[in-house]
Amino acid sequence: MDEQQPQSTAKLWGGRFDRPTDQAVEAYTSSIDADRRMVRQDITGSIAHARMLGRQGIIPADDAGAIVSGLSRVLAEAESGAYQLDPRLEDVHMNVEARLGDVIGGEASGKLHTARSRNDQVALDVRLFTLEAVQSTVRLIRALQEVLIDLAERHADDILPGYTHMQRAQPVVLGHHLLAYVEMLERDAGRFADCGQRTAVSPLGSGALAGVPYPLDRIYAAQQLGLAAISENSLDAVSDRDFIVEYNAAAAICMMHLSRMAEEIVLWSTTEFGFITLDDAFATGSSIMPQKKNPDVAELARGKTGRIYGNLMSILTILKALPLSYNRDLQEDKPGFFDTVDTLTSTLDIFARMLPATTFHTNRMRAVARANYALATDVADYLARKGVPFREAHHVVGALVGYAVREGRELHELTLPDYQRFSPLFEADVLTIDLVDSVAARDVPGGTAPVQVQAAVQRARSRLEAHRAAG
Ligand code: ARG
Repeated sequence: MDEQQPQSTAKLWGGRFDRPTDQAVEAYTSSIDADRRMVRQDITGSIAHARMLGRQGIIPADDAGAIVSGLSRVLAEAESGAYQLDPRLEDVHMNVEARLGDVIGGEASGKLHTARSRNDQVALDVRLFTLEAVQSTVRLIRALQEVLIDLAERHADDILPGYTHMQRAQPVVLGHHLLAYVEMLERDAGRFADCGQRTAVSPLGSGALAGVPYPLDRIYAAQQLGLAAISENSLDAVSDRDFIVEYNAAAAICMMHLSRMAEEIVLWSTTEFGFITLDDAFATGSSIMPQKKNPDVAELARGKTGRIYGNLMSILTILKALPLSYNRDLQEDKPGFFDTVDTLTSTLDIFARMLPATTFHTNRMRAVARANYALATDVADYLARKGVPFREAHHVVGALVGYAVREGRELHELTLPDYQRFSPLFEADVLTIDLVDSVAARDVPGGTAPVQVQAAVQRARSRLEAHRAAG
C-alpha cells in the first residue's frame, strides 16, 4: 500500500501494517481539523528539538541544519497557505514531517523524529499554544479593564440605584459599579497568569512515555522555546493536560463574570430600566418588529457562557480515570479548548469596544436612585448617629417607610412633623438628606463615596501600569 502512495502521503507508521486503514477509521481518528491550528507551535518545537539533536551530536550537524532550514520553509509555506495540510496524514505532526521530507529529502528529514514521540511532541505543541492563548487572553482582559477604569473615572459622581435581591437598595455611583467588574477581571487575569506558569514546562525528552535512550540536553531545548522548566516525570509529561483544564476553568470563571455584565447590559437597555442605549453598531434588529433594537451581543455572551462551562466539563470528563500514560482519548482535549479560547477572547474584545460606545443615561439613573425609599438606610444612620441603637433606628425608619408607603409619598415628600411622629430625635436637617450625601458618606476604602471611587480608579490604573511594566 505504502508504495502506491506518493512519498508525502504514506503513513509514517505504516511499516507493520499490511492493509490500508479503513476510510471511516481514518476520518474518525484524524485530528487534523483541530491540530492544524498548532502548525506553528509544532514546527517551532521541532526546530528546537532538531537544533538540540545537532548540538548534542545525536544527529549530524549538517542534517540538523537542513532540518532547521527545511522546517522554516514549511512554516512559511503553511502560513502563506502555499502548502495545505493533508487530512489523510492524520495529524499536524505527520503532515509537517512528510512535507519536510518533500523539501529536504527523506534521508535527513527522517532523523527529526530521533529521540521523540508524537506523545511528547503533541504535549509540547499544546503547551506552546496554551501559553500564547494565556498571553492574548490576559492582554484582552487588561484592555477591558482599562475601558472600565476610564468609564469609572468619568462616572465617579453619577448616582444610580444599587441593588440587592434585584430590589433598589442603596444609591451607589456608576463608577463604583463598573470598578466591581475591574476587580473580577483582576482575579481572572491572575488565574490565567498562574495557569501560564504551570504551562511553561517542556515535556520534550519524555518520548512515548519512558524517556529516550539518547543524551539529550532537555534544558537547552526548553530554553530555545522560552520555557522556564522541564518536566520531572515522563509518564506525567505525556499524559498531563492539567494546564488545559486550568485554562478552561479560568475561562469559565471569566465568562461567568462577563455573563453577569452581559445580564446587566440586557436589563439596563430595557425601556423599564432605561439606563443605557447601545450603539447601533453593537445591537441588532428584529425581522418582524421594526422598532426593536436588541442587545444580542450581551445575550450571546450570556449564552456562550454555557458552552464554555460545557467545555470545562468535557475536558474533566475526558481525563477522568484515564490510566497512565498517553491514551488517544487525549486527542479530544483540543476542539473544546480551542472553542473556549476563541469564544472568550472574542467576547473580551467585543465588550471592550461595545462599552465605550454605549450611552449611559445618568439623569435617568439618578432619578430612579432617589425613588422607592432608597435613602431609608441613611435616615436610620441619622438616628444611630444620635445614639439610637442601629437595630432600633432600623425599626423606627421601617415604620416611617410603612407610613410613607400608605400615604403614597416618598421620604423627601414627608414633613418634619411626619418624621417626628416616629422619633423626637428627628430635626429639620433630616429633610436635607439627599443622594449626594448618601454616597459621600460611604467614605471607607472600597466604599462608593466619589472620593473613594476616584482613589480606587487611581489604584486600579497604577496596578494596570505595574502589570504592563512587568510584561
Ligand atoms: N493527534 C494526537 C493527539 O492529539 C497526537 C499524538 C498521537 N500519538 C499517538 N501515539 N497516536 O493527541
